[in-house]
Amino acid sequence: MPRCAISSCILLCLMASNSGPRPPPPPALRHTRRHQPPHHTHHKNTHHHHHPTPSDLLLYTKISPIGSSCKNYQNLLHKYMNCTPFTLCPNDSPLVEDLILRGCHPLPRRRCFSTTAAVIPALLPTDPFSPLPENIALPSHYSCNNFSCFAGLKSELGFNMQIEKTRFSVYKTDLDLPIPQLLQLAKSAKSVIRLAIDIGGGTGTFAAQMKLQNVTVLTTTMNVGAPYNDAVALRGLVPLHVPLQQRLPVFDGVVDLVRCGHAVNRWIPVTAMEFLFFDVDRVLRGGGYLFLDHFFSRRLDLEKVFTPLIGKLKYKIVKWAVANKTDSGGVKNMEVYLTALLQKPLITK
Ligand SMILES: *[C@@H]1O[C@H](CO)[C@@H](O)[C@H](O)[C@H]1NC(C)=O
Ligand SMILES: *[C@@H]1O[C@H](CO)[C@@H](O)[C@H](O)[C@H]1NC(C)=O
Ligand SMILES: *[C@@H]1O[C@H](CO)[C@@H](O)[C@H](O)[C@H]1NC(C)=O
Repeated sequence: MPRCAISSCILLCLMASNSGPRPPPPPALRHTRRHQPPHHTHHKNTHHHHHPTPSDLLLYTKISPIGSSCKNYQNLLHKYMNCTPFTLCPNDSPLVEDLILRGCHPLPRRRCFSTTAAVIPALLPTDPFSPLPENIALPSHYSCNNFSCFAGLKSELGFNMQIEKTRFSVYKTDLDLPIPQLLQLAKSAKSVIRLAIDIGGGTGTFAAQMKLQNVTVLTTTMNVGAPYNDAVALRGLVPLHVPLQQRLPVFDGVVDLVRCGHAVNRWIPVTAMEFLFFDVDRVLRGGGYLFLDHFFSRRLDLEKVFTPLIGKLKYKIVKWAVANKTDSGGVKNMEVYLTALLQKPLITK
């Protein structure tokens, strides 16, 4: 069972990453070591040929037991830990993103003070679609130094609240599962959606729409290229700063719905995706839903790789819609979108 091997590996790797002589593994764990999945996962898969380099968000999504990948990025870690005690921490949030994206979640840096703005914040908006505040100066490593500038960039980034307000509410094609319909499906199955997680949720618009329905949604999001975590928080929503390969920081069986948006797609190594799905299974209650929203892959891989992978969960298929991805990249690579709603069975398999 690779799953168990990974969790027992956490211990081993934490021990291994300590300096000094490496203690032998405890006898009970020794036999599990050779079952560890390889650390270089599927970046070189045949079905990943001939494609542009994926974004950093996906490039470093590998299976790595907690803390162990810090060993592979000692330069970055060294840089990160290089601070003067009892003074302000260096202003290095891009470095922090780099470490977390690579699966290295160092504990908070000890004994330095993080930089915070010296202003008392305004009340949070009651409407999560209010424009983001204009008077906040953003760090200089972004291409924009205020939110209104981000709102004027590509609308897919999610900073234009006029556009965000319209998302998840209309049905245009079979690939759409608008929130009213989603809630109706749950209701007609005598189920209920109260708590949810949105994986890779950008600026938090799914959570914002669900908030209007009195549903609480946590949004996992990274700050790659734009201040997504800041935006989610300023909307009065809760951002979780975790990459795709990290265990979801909630307890087992406590959420009713997990949505995987665009960030979950064929660029994730298959092994990592399997772990992601099984962690979703861990946090979902019986009868809870997994919502794959516009998952994209090559048509052939959907049949040969991802449908069987999703099938491993043994969930009930409530919705399953596949259609060609018609943008230029999609046509060139013969990609399709899948939107699926899957329900975790009530009985333990
Ligand atoms: C936001 O930034 C843009 C581009 O730097 C600038 O033109 C604009 O005046 C700024 N807006 C505010 C409200 O500061
Ligand atoms: C959400 O809760 C508020 C306050 O209890 C209530 O007035 C409102 O009708 C609820 N909205 C929905 C969509 O259930
Ligand atoms: C989808 O794309 C494939 C080629 O990749 C093509 O053969 C098929 O006709 C397309 N289907 C639709 C409905 O356009």
